[in-house]
Amino acid sequence: MGSSCFSRGNSANVKVIKQFIQDNSLDAQLTFTGRLCENMCSRGPVIVIDDKVYESVNLSRLCKILKEEFKC
Ligand code: FES
Repeated sequence: MGSSCFSRGNSANVKVIKQFIQDNSLDAQLTFTGRLCENMCSRGPVIVIDDKVYESVNLSRLCKILKEEFKC
């Protein structure tokens, strides 16, 4: 949730992630939090899932990542 990642697309990504969690009833199994800058601003937006870092996450890529990570 650093300002660079937020302005590069994580503002929209957050909404998609929240909706994905809700649609797949994952809220009891996940801890979803914002993190500060990961010092990879030029490669943002960045998201991290179980210490696995994803760079340049746009909305279409995000959907693929979520489906792969959570087998939905
Ligand atoms: S704001 Fe995301 S890596 Fe810096």
